[in-house]
Amino acid sequence: MTDHYYAPLRLVLLLILSATCFGSELDVQCLKTIFQSVTDPNGILKSSWSFVNNGTPGYICKFTGVECWHPDENRVLSLRLGNLGLQGPFPAGLQNCTSMTGLDLSSNNFTGLIPQDISQQIPYLTSLDLSYNRFSGQIPVNISNMTYLNTLNLQHNQFTGQIPLQFNLLGRLTSFNVAENRLSGPIPNNLNKFPSSNFAGNQGLCGLPLDGCQASAKSKNNAAIIGAVVGVVVVIIIGVIIVFFCLRKLPAKKPKDEEENKWAKSIKGTKTIKVSMFENPVSKMKLSDLMKATNEFCKENIIGTGRTGTMYRAVLPDGSFLAVKRLQDSQHSETQFMSEMKTLGQVRHRNLVPLLGFCIAKRERLLVYKHMPKGSLYDQLNQEEGKDCKMDWTLRLRIGIGAAKGLAYLHHTCNPRVLHRNISSKCILLDEDYEPKISDFGLARLMNPIDTHLSTFVNGEFGDLGYVAPEYARTLVATPKGDVYSFGVVLLELITGERPTHVSTAPENFRGSLVEWITYLSNNALLQDAVDKSLIGKGSDGELMQFLKVACSCTISTPKERPTMFEVYQLLRAIGEKYHFSAEDDLMMLPPLSTDGETLDELIVAQ
Ligand SMILES: *[C@@H]1O[C@H](CO)[C@@H](O)[C@H](O)[C@H]1NC(C)=O
Ligand SMILES: *[C@@H]1O[C@H](CO)[C@@H](O)[C@H](O)[C@H]1NC(C)=O
Ligand SMILES: *[C@@H]1O[C@H](CO)[C@@H](O)[C@H](O)[C@H]1NC(C)=O
Ligand SMILES: *[C@@H]1O[C@H](CO)[C@@H](O)[C@H](O)[C@H]1NC(C)=O
Repeated sequence: MTDHYYAPLRLVLLLILSATCFGSELDVQCLKTIFQSVTDPNGILKSSWSFVNNGTPGYICKFTGVECWHPDENRVLSLRLGNLGLQGPFPAGLQNCTSMTGLDLSSNNFTGLIPQDISQQIPYLTSLDLSYNRFSGQIPVNISNMTYLNTLNLQHNQFTGQIPLQFNLLGRLTSFNVAENRLSGPIPNNLNKFPSSNFAGNQGLCGLPLDGCQASAKSKNNAAIIGAVVGVVVVIIIGVIIVFFCLRKLPAKKPKDEEENKWAKSIKGTKTIKVSMFENPVSKMKLSDLMKATNEFCKENIIGTGRTGTMYRAVLPDGSFLAVKRLQDSQHSETQFMSEMKTLGQVRHRNLVPLLGFCIAKRERLLVYKHMPKGSLYDQLNQEEGKDCKMDWTLRLRIGIGAAKGLAYLHHTCNPRVLHRNISSKCILLDEDYEPKISDFGLARLMNPIDTHLSTFVNGEFGDLGYVAPEYARTLVATPKGDVYSFGVVLLELITGERPTHVSTAPENFRGSLVEWITYLSNNALLQDAVDKSLIGKGSDGELMQFLKVACSCTISTPKERPTMFEVYQLLRAIGEKYHFSAEDDLMMLPPLSTDGETLDELIVAQ
């Protein structure tokens, strides 16, 4: 019966997905605009870039200098227009090549300024080569926002002014060259690592790897004296710091322990406060019971620490377990918190960790959850070698489908709809049967919203790094498509067995994230190499590739091209159909109400 309902739907979904992947009129428009804006005295583009034969998917991929993501898709991966004798200003229309990662205009006769908003036009570039032209003016500060840049080559132009100090933000640069321009001023620190020849031929540049900036003008003696004084001062400071730490070290340890559950001591006086339970699995509980069950929230009972707070294991007198979360400072008043809890307490789904109750004691907010005996998906995937029972494919597929179902429920069915904003393999917990349950939903909005967005992006310590959708860097606004991206990273972890931020099978010098690694493999037609070797050759290779493709579609850099969680769930479910994982379909999901990555204020703004 359910098959009748789902089969046609699935077909439609696949069509929607492929339509968004295959046809990008924008990319065609992009090339048309470039074609019109550059002067092409040798007629090279004119002879190759023919827009007459339009309509065939991928026809632009045969144009001189155009590389596509896939030969049958009109989606530009990079433009290599080096050494074609082109003239005129910086080409127009680039912002319509929305998935472009490489731009090479080297060895032409381009002139004029680089647009100030270049980072908005082509935000995802990894390689920009404008060398050997006659570009002039200042190097735009905005290039420092193009955080994916690996290569930036500006040599042999007529740039003036300074190298923007904000270039220190370009953390991924592996190649940088500004030789033979008219630049002056100090060289930003993180560019010190490049050879001095890459800065040569500019009258006014100074600082490492070239000569120092102020000292060069003064006498060498002065420099030596200053150097010596600075050296002595530094040595003294280091000495003082070392002595300070040695003296502090031993006695410092104990007070810190006390510090850790000082908060617990502070609520001791309020022990008789009741824990409000939504249902009644545990008869009347008081704060004192929670204190006893967690041994006054001692360190040994900490299960995990995340952005929303610290989770403790609680052992009840009858030997059963609960999980208690101490919420990180909440910005909300007691009434707001209570009403929020009321809402969250009603969210119930097979693939969500149930919130059983909560408790307010002075400034502290404690949440009581069901305990999940198998821990997090992250821990299961990254076990120590000791336990070599690697998760098999059917288990991983079942977990992927279940987790997708839980998140789809939050996005599309549950009322009010909930954005998670923190999806990672660490917040997907497993019960005794390895049924996945999403935890921490609904907590992000209990924090200060502004702080939440920023720390999501800046902070790596919570394990969120590697899960953050690229658009968050610019917009700082949570959207359903941002959750889809993070979920796509979880799917990639399931299929590759790799961690989101460190890829063990990648070459030594590859420092990117899992998504960047997959993008790299995909660009080089090596996608099949991404799959966890322990899964291959066991009769499900077809499913593995289908699963990988769904994961990739979730992590597309353009939010609009990602599927919705509803679609993700349907696609995964189709892959796992033959296994009949869940007998009953406990989820009558409505089709998505709206599909795009709109900001959905109604979801995230309290009241
Ligand atoms: C640039 O233009 C000049 C003449 O304006 C020409 O001599 C030179 O060959 C051109 N350079 C390139 C690389 O086409
Ligand atoms: C991008 O494409 C749209 C639709 O074809 C067009 O209206 C717009 O002018 C283009 N933008 C640029 C900068 O060329
Ligand atoms: C970057 O580009 C935008 C859009 O053109 C502009 O408003 C802004 O001033 C530019 N500079 C910086 C530092 O963001
Ligand atoms: C670029 O970065 C500057 C700060 O360095 C910021 O003010 C600006 O909004 C950013 N622009 C874009 C397009 O991200």
